[in-house]
Amino acid sequence: MVTMDTADIETDLSLFKYDTLEQLPPEYRTLSESERTPRIEAALDELGDEAVVLGHNYQRREIVEHADFVGDSYELSKRAAEADAEYVIFGGVTFMAESADIITDDDQTVILPSMEASCPMAGMAEALQVDAAWAEITAAAPDAEIIPITYMNSYADLKAFCASQGGLVCTSSNAHRAFEWAFERGDKVLFLPDKHLGENTAHRLGMEDEVATWDPWDPAGKDPDEVVESDIICWDGYCQVHERFTAEHVEQVREDHRGARVVVHPECRREVVEAADVVGSTSTICETIETADPGETWAIGTEIHLTEHLQRWHPEVEVLPLCGDACMDCNAMRQIDPNYLAWVLEELVAGRERNVIEVAADEKELAGVALERMLEV
Ligand code: 13P
Ligand code: SF4
Repeated sequence: MVTMDTADIETDLSLFKYDTLEQLPPEYRTLSESERTPRIEAALDELGDEAVVLGHNYQRREIVEHADFVGDSYELSKRAAEADAEYVIFGGVTFMAESADIITDDDQTVILPSMEASCPMAGMAEALQVDAAWAEITAAAPDAEIIPITYMNSYADLKAFCASQGGLVCTSSNAHRAFEWAFERGDKVLFLPDKHLGENTAHRLGMEDEVATWDPWDPAGKDPDEVVESDIICWDGYCQVHERFTAEHVEQVREDHRGARVVVHPECRREVVEAADVVGSTSTICETIETADPGETWAIGTEIHLTEHLQRWHPEVEVLPLCGDACMDCNAMRQIDPNYLAWVLEELVAGRERNVIEVAADEKELAGVALERMLEV
């Protein structure tokens, strides 16, 4: 049996292809920013209304600068649903581009500039593994109606599984509403894959004493008795970027910067969220800084690119990374090198579609149900 703890995951991640340009034709690998920017602009001009570029808040400056919309995964899924462009170029990770493909019309094409951009947390709950766990969990509580909810950070097959079992998808901005929706229809929630978002949401709903964790990698980490006793069962997945933050970081930043306040993402550990002043999705983090008074100091507990964007966009506010130089960027998001953006756009201008994300038809329909339920909660 494979066991996985934080240390193992970080070791695995050090082997993750980092910043690789090897999938690019050689002439694109060495483009400098000054060569690339006018080429991207020219391609976008040429494509006009045919293409829309969406950029997640964690993308690099050189991507968000070219995006028509920048936002969190919920906002971007709504933008994708509203878009009528033929091509949706997604500056984000695979699961977000898959969701865009599910939500957009069949005659729209979703393009992910680099196929290497896969979120490790989404990979922690594979549909086959969840199928096996579902059999054990439902057998442990045969009289309970269990509703599976998956975080947006999961693959289309898992979203389809949740829909098939009467469940839905949520993002970090609507997880509490998705839980409420589920408890109106069932007795228990199985939440996948992020245990921290699950625990933080349970706390927000006053259900913190109702949580059990299901560790699929550890036979001792799945206790059927706990399933019977608990109303919320959290899959033991996590994001290594957010799990890095500790309550000591919060304490330290307040000690080093008098009057500093702290805003963190709900993928952070419970004790970090508890110590912070504000918790919320990446768009809540942006709003916190947008509405701060000039001269205020805010430390940010999330992916480092968003902190850097906020420093650039709001020089009137002192914006600090919560754990200083130890704050991480997301390896998966970072795979979207701007040279890939230049390549996919110029290929489109030349009439060639590259890196198309297409979800299988059967999964698309069911995963679409799970996403529609989310957009309605
Ligand atoms: P948001 O839902 O806040 O966009 O976050 C997505 C994500 O991947 C956070 O790690
Ligand atoms: Fe996945 Fe974490 Fe990156 Fe978000 S920040 S895409 S959860 S690895």
